Amino acid sequence: MISVEKVSRNYKAGETVVKALKQVSLQINDGEFLSIAGPSGSGKTTLLNLIGCIDALDEGEIYIDGKPVTAMGKNEKTIFRRTNLGFIFQTYNLIPVLSAYENVAFVLSILNIAEPEIKERTYAILKEVGLEGMENRRPNRLSGGQQQRIAIARALVKHPQIILADEPTANLDSKTGEDILKLMKDMNKKYKTTFIFSTHDQMVMDYADRLVWLHDGNILRDERRK
Ligand SMILES: Nc1ncnc2c1ncn2[C@@H]1O[C@H](COP(=O)(O)OP(=O)(O)O)[C@@H](O)[C@H]1O
Ligand SMILES: [Mg+2]
Repeated sequence: MISVEKVSRNYKAGETVVKALKQVSLQINDGEFLSIAGPSGSGKTTLLNLIGCIDALDEGEIYIDGKPVTAMGKNEKTIFRRTNLGFIFQTYNLIPVLSAYENVAFVLSILNIAEPEIKERTYAILKEVGLEGMENRRPNRLSGGQQQRIAIARALVKHPQIILADEPTANLDSKTGEDILKLMKDMNKKYKTTFIFSTHDQMVMDYADRLVWLHDGNILRDERRK
């Protein structure tokens, strides 16, 4: 479970301070399929980065399974991220010189998993996301939707507790975006992974079991749909 408690994040931009999040509080249960919705600049990326331990908050606290993130040292945070969190980005963020297989297997090699198991798990997850037979292709020989499938496989292969996806369909056409959402939802059901994704796209929001609306750094609404 994730507990965001009165979290603020301020960015200094020259003389002015941008209050990107203003005392935001939010509880997220294990296995949720939740969307952070809101217009550009509302604080979605900031919130995801704080939950993902990529960025540091200015005020408040975030607890993940009761553990306060501000109490973690730098190394502890890195290990925590590698073990428990998966990330999916709008621009896929794959390593261009690595094949689909290598982009995914890489994550497991960092976790010191033995080679035969890496091989088995990587082939299995690539098959699950629909990339069987494309394991040896580099990202630039795959479509945007296929690249995002690699990113989903990469996020899932280590069996993280939580996957954070920042506008995962923003660079995709609506049909491909919908396929990606369906895949994420299937994976959420199958692995009980918590998915938190941001979007400003209505179609994407419609897939969420819960919609948290951000506006100017405040939570406006919290809609449960299931
Ligand atoms: N590194 C930064 N420096 C200064 N301002 C920032 C920075 N990152 C985000 N902001 C500002 O914080 C606010 C929230 O941004 P962001 O979390 O990226 O929103 P969203 O993801 O919803 O578009 C915006 O006003 C944005 O301009
Ligand atoms: Mg953003």
